Amino acid sequence: MDRRLFLASTLCAGLLPDTAWAAKTDTPLKKLAADKGVRYGTSTGTHALFGDPGYAAIVAQQAGMLVSEYQGKRAQLQPAPDRYDFAALDSIVAYAQRHGMAMRGHTLCWYSTNPPWLDAQMKSDLALPAKQKLLTDFVSTVAGRYRGRIAEWDVVNEPIEPGDGWPLGMRTRNNIWAVLTERYIDMAFHTARAADPSAALFLNEYGIEAATPWNERKRHALLLLLGRLKQRGVPIDGLGIQAHLRPYKDKFDQQVFATFLKQVTDMGLRISITEMDFSDRGGSNDPQQRDIDMAAAATAFLDVALDNPATRTVMSWGVTDRYSWLTSRFASDPWPKGGVARALPYDVNLKPKPLRTAIAQAFIDAAPRPRWRRGAA
Ligand code: G3I
Repeated sequence: MDRRLFLASTLCAGLLPDTAWAAKTDTPLKKLAADKGVRYGTSTGTHALFGDPGYAAIVAQQAGMLVSEYQGKRAQLQPAPDRYDFAALDSIVAYAQRHGMAMRGHTLCWYSTNPPWLDAQMKSDLALPAKQKLLTDFVSTVAGRYRGRIAEWDVVNEPIEPGDGWPLGMRTRNNIWAVLTERYIDMAFHTARAADPSAALFLNEYGIEAATPWNERKRHALLLLLGRLKQRGVPIDGLGIQAHLRPYKDKFDQQVFATFLKQVTDMGLRISITEMDFSDRGGSNDPQQRDIDMAAAATAFLDVALDNPATRTVMSWGVTDRYSWLTSRFASDPWPKGGVARALPYDVNLKPKPLRTAIAQAFIDAAPRPRWRRGAA
């Protein structure tokens, strides 16, 4: 266990004086990150942001960037072919602007959470150009609406799925692929670049962080895809690494992850950690021990992520266990009845956890990086 891991776990166990660290690590996470040229932020939703003042105070204090957790997806934004509903996303973007926060956009093109009418039209006998417009019209409408107000877009979300059986590991069992093939990715990125040249454009993926055979298969397919996109001149600026981590289930190897990050940044791409949370399922019955373990996992992960100078954004997928998707009924692996995930920096009572200390310390330990300019990753 390296020095930081040891310190993180002993501090979190209350074994070390919380003097200097408490002072430094009480500094807002957005400040600790910004001091090193990194943005720290969180996903959010209007229900909590405008309905829970205690939660909103933590977001305002800690986050330098916001992303809509679910109200920026096509099912919410375009409930009918001729109707857009931007009210919720507009209110989050306005809140971010009022609080001097940057915004991530999530997401312009995803196989999931599309309105039923879109699937129907993709499967209809519409001509191919009309179906291509179904994609490009949405991307240009949404990216154009927020032109200059979104620092980073997840243009395409989760395009990799080796389980779909496609030789190159692409996610193919969906209507977008069935009609547009892999070129849907090219179309989405080119359209987004034209609609908002100021935004950094990302491809966002999960299950690429751990030292497991499945994550290795996804990393391999993803690196091949990124190589094809670069070769085709697709205007992609960065890779979004979701980082929905499961420390008790998936082995994490710092060297494996560091090597992967370098393979990505050697292509001239930057890195954003886009949906970071640490699922404590499978741990001991002692929540305090689970908190210490999650903090140690965060140290191990963020030390590597931030050691790469092309990592410029770290977003947690929520800031408090009070609103973690892992506990919600929308989780892919729902929590046992009544269980609450302890996956985020603040607990359900909005108190800081060892995980927050570990995130703070990772920013304190990180080397500063220059501001990002397109072309120089
Ligand atoms: O708030 C409404 C509620 O008013 C309504 O009664 C209820 C009925 O369906 O829906 C509620 O909204 C739900 C929302 O979460 C808020 O909880 C949506 O239905 C539900 O679809 C939505 O799930 C989100 C999911 O993406 C699909 O959009 C999760 O919150 C969100 O955490 C999850 O995030 C994804 C990323 O986009 C991509 N990476 C994986 C990540 C986790 O699955």
